[in-house]
Amino acid sequence: MSILDKHGKIERNLTLLFVGSLLAVMIGGIVEIAPLFYVKNTIEKVEGMRPYTPLELAGRDIYIREGCYLCHSQMIRPFRDEVERYGHYSLAAESMYDHPFQWGSKRTGPDLARVGGRYSDDWHVQHLIDPQSVVPESIMPKYSFLATTPLAKKNISAHLSANAAVGVPYSEAMVINALPDLEAQADPDADTSGLEERYAKISIRDFDGNPKVVSEMDALVAYLQMLGTLVDLKAYQQNENLR
Ligand code: HEC
Repeated sequence: MSILDKHGKIERNLTLLFVGSLLAVMIGGIVEIAPLFYVKNTIEKVEGMRPYTPLELAGRDIYIREGCYLCHSQMIRPFRDEVERYGHYSLAAESMYDHPFQWGSKRTGPDLARVGGRYSDDWHVQHLIDPQSVVPESIMPKYSFLATTPLAKKNISAHLSANAAVGVPYSEAMVINALPDLEAQADPDADTSGLEERYAKISIRDFDGNPKVVSEMDALVAYLQMLGTLVDLKAYQQNENLR
């Protein structure tokens, strides 16, 4: 009796086929899943990632509210054309504090994963108020209301707590100081020593050019200017050959 004949027996017996398939799937499942229980973290550790500051987090909310992700991705894939255009490909750790992540699935506009520091604040403000005034052929909508809308900030502490509940390492001091930290980041005259201690690599300035109020524009520009700037990519050289 050849092995094929034996297999024929399984194929003709429904119960045997079911038990056999179940066994095969179970073994495959265990082989795939079990190793994950023994690794501490599936995200490669990199230097520099920190939770978003309250102002950046508020800006991120506006990014989500306005649906920026419908036209912009935040995920540079490890292909030469993308790396040459946008910079080092995205690392898993760079979106580890994103709830929900903003990888996106459509690029009507360019990828924004490393847009931080590429343009001045003035450029961003002008571009968001009227994209066609700086890029005439742009089809991006105008968001001029952001500059005149004061940022709703009274729930910011709760927002940090909610992120902490899903694993973002916000300390108690960060949660308690969320509101003053948010206001201080947009005010170059504020006492920012505590803020700088809590958040490394933080940009503190009046982002929208209007020092009187913290506007939604302040928050969104603070968020955009931070994107892709936290991880020190020079220290991360293992895959440099892709550059
Ligand atoms: C309808 C699609 C669309 C939406 C929605 C949209 N954008 Fe854009 N965006 C574009 C296009 C197209 C460009 C390229 C032309 C330009 O620079 O205006 C662009 C460019 C940009 C750039 C410049 C990127 C670079 O590297 O040059 C930034 C920053 C940006 N958008 C931010 C935003 C933000 C923030 C929002 C949400 C408030 C948003 N966009 C919503 C289509 C969109």
